[in-house]
Amino acid sequence: MNIELITTESSETDLKTELSLLLQRYPANHNTNLQAWDAADEYLLKQVHEQGRTDSNIAIVNDNFGALSCGLNRLLPDAQLYIETDNKTSISGINANFNSNQLNIEQLNWHTSRELLPKSVTLVLMKLPKNLSYFSQQLVRLSQVLPEGTQVLIGAKAKSITPTVIQLFTDNLGPAKASLAWKKCRVISCLSDGKVRQNEKNKQWQIPEYRLRMNNLSNVFAANKLDIGARVMLENMPKGQFDTIIDLGCGNGVLGMRAAQLFPDADIHFVDDSEMAVASTKQNWQANNFDEGRGYFYWDDCLSKLPTNVEPDLILCNPPFHQGEAITDHIAWQMFLDAKRRLKSGGLLHVVGNRHLGYHIKLQRIFSNCKTVASNGKFVILQSTK
Ligand SMILES: C[S@@+](CC[C@H](N)C(=O)[O-])C[C@H]1O[C@@H](n2cnc3c(N)ncnc32)[C@H](O)[C@@H]1O
Repeated sequence: MNIELITTESSETDLKTELSLLLQRYPANHNTNLQAWDAADEYLLKQVHEQGRTDSNIAIVNDNFGALSCGLNRLLPDAQLYIETDNKTSISGINANFNSNQLNIEQLNWHTSRELLPKSVTLVLMKLPKNLSYFSQQLVRLSQVLPEGTQVLIGAKAKSITPTVIQLFTDNLGPAKASLAWKKCRVISCLSDGKVRQNEKNKQWQIPEYRLRMNNLSNVFAANKLDIGARVMLENMPKGQFDTIIDLGCGNGVLGMRAAQLFPDADIHFVDDSEMAVASTKQNWQANNFDEGRGYFYWDDCLSKLPTNVEPDLILCNPPFHQGEAITDHIAWQMFLDAKRRLKSGGLLHVVGNRHLGYHIKLQRIFSNCKTVASNGKFVILQSTK
């Protein structure tokens, strides 16, 4: 990422400097032309520079792979950076980019999207997430800590900044105004009005045919209703005898909870990149009265940190086909590779996917076998055996 930063020295002289960083997405994937940053990241850093900010405590919210954190550390090397993220892969990406750019990792302080940022923060840089109910909750949490007049700069594609989004600022944090567009992006500047808001309770819902009650945090996939792919999976669960089951990319935990009903002696391990997903799954597990001793919960990137003593004989997986706004199949790949690595010999990977995604080709390559066990017009259920 190369950004030209202009400092006006006097009415006649402009001083041009370049902020240059080498940034990679996480996991680094050389077979993609997807970038690790976007123009909204650049625009936010330009604004900080042009405003001549010298804050020593800055919060960064929703930084995907570290473009904002690395850029700010270059601009203000002594500032403490408080990073709020829901994703394990963002933490790994930010750390990796800090290291490869020889930046000082000691300046980073980590917060999940359920924790409050410190009151000492005097500037917040934020990327607008796709999920607006998650975004509203993030603004509400900011209203609980930011003193009146604290500036929050939000970068986004110009087309995403609708009147609804501007209204969310006014309702949840304070007055906001959008900048001129630059490279099809805008920065919204919002000033905290110092009034503390409270988050609304999450919606509870049921899946009556399986007697499951759900209650999820805002950034969870299918937080308010059953995903259609998950429904097809529930209608076509594997048959057999299983002792150790993994729900890989568990979201709200529905697949693993159904497995817990069908295989009452099995331990169920739930894994997701979203901290809110893992927390919601744990809450759903308890609310549905599953045995505490049978449920295990991991905030992890695929199976990278799964304890070595876990030896699954079944992995259930409804893989994601995007990362943030980018459509990509590399997480599905990683999930399938990790499943092959961790399954017991003879163990089963049971996958649901959109027919057009062609997961059977990947599974055949990785496992040398892949069987279609069910399908409808839109989805297929695939099984590979280790
Ligand atoms: C299509 S959703 C499926 C959710 C749930 N299993 C269901 O069927 O409703 C995919 C899930 O994978 C999670 N995910 C994305 N990247 C991941 C990664 N690198 N490691 C683990 N989980 C990931 C997402 O957060 C999301 O919850």
